[in-house]
Amino acid sequence: MSSEAQHAEERVVDTATGAEAPAEISEERVQHIFSNIAKQYARFNAVSSFGLFKGWLRKTVDAANLTPESDLLDLAGGTGDVSYMAASRRPPAHIQLTDFVPEMLDVAREREAAGAACGVPIDFEVVDAQEIPYADNSYDAVTMAYGIRNIPDRMKALREVHRVLKPGGTFACLEFSTPPNAVWRFLYHIYLKVMIPFWGQVFTHDRPSFVYLADSIRAFPDQEHYAQMLRDAGFSDVSWKNYAGGIVAVHTGHK
Ligand SMILES: C[S@@+](CC[C@H](N)C(=O)[O-])C[C@H]1O[C@@H](n2cnc3c(N)ncnc32)[C@H](O)[C@@H]1O
Repeated sequence: MSSEAQHAEERVVDTATGAEAPAEISEERVQHIFSNIAKQYARFNAVSSFGLFKGWLRKTVDAANLTPESDLLDLAGGTGDVSYMAASRRPPAHIQLTDFVPEMLDVAREREAAGAACGVPIDFEVVDAQEIPYADNSYDAVTMAYGIRNIPDRMKALREVHRVLKPGGTFACLEFSTPPNAVWRFLYHIYLKVMIPFWGQVFTHDRPSFVYLADSIRAFPDQEHYAQMLRDAGFSDVSWKNYAGGIVAVHTGHK
């Protein structure tokens, strides 16, 4: 990656376009979108990914190197998909489930009340991943699924993740990415442009928000660029695995 491209990643961006812009534009849009779709989020995910999203969550949880002693911080945790997958698959000692949008955490709390945490102690807090209110070196693992793409100052968030991880800790990050195969990428971009806004209209009658989701996926750095951002934030042994031909990737980095 050129130093110019590296510098470009330091910018605060409009997450819909990747162009430099004040953070408030993206932050206000995220509040609007996710407070509106919180209740329909699970159905939208299941349908728009053809049910594949659960497998990707499993891969993310497996990548986080959880043990029964781990303290897990789930950032941009939304309605709890990663946290509850971790609780059922590789139960840690404690989960801190956080998100920027209170309405998403309200749904997560309802799921916990229905038993989704499988007995794992869990705390909820509204947290901006760009300013994590926890001490240095406090978590064994940090997870983030589909969060970093929605954050305008991504380097600030990644440095914060690195700061709160304990030495030896793991960051596992699931995000939409760039299929390396040109034909698959072309078909996928058509799906993003046409079908994601369609599902959005069906589920929430809020087509513009889903046009945003599709735009933000296209504007997000590809696998190698994002890996470089993780290295620049201080992570070592950065690697990634593609799933569904690179439609999503799970990046991991260690402190
Ligand atoms: C697509 S949802 C993913 C939720 C969850 N991780 C999952 O896999 O279902 C993206 C989430 O990122 C959250 N988010 C956006 N910007 C954030 C920020 N600056 N700090 C923390 N969370 C943020 C949104 O509120 C939303 O809940």
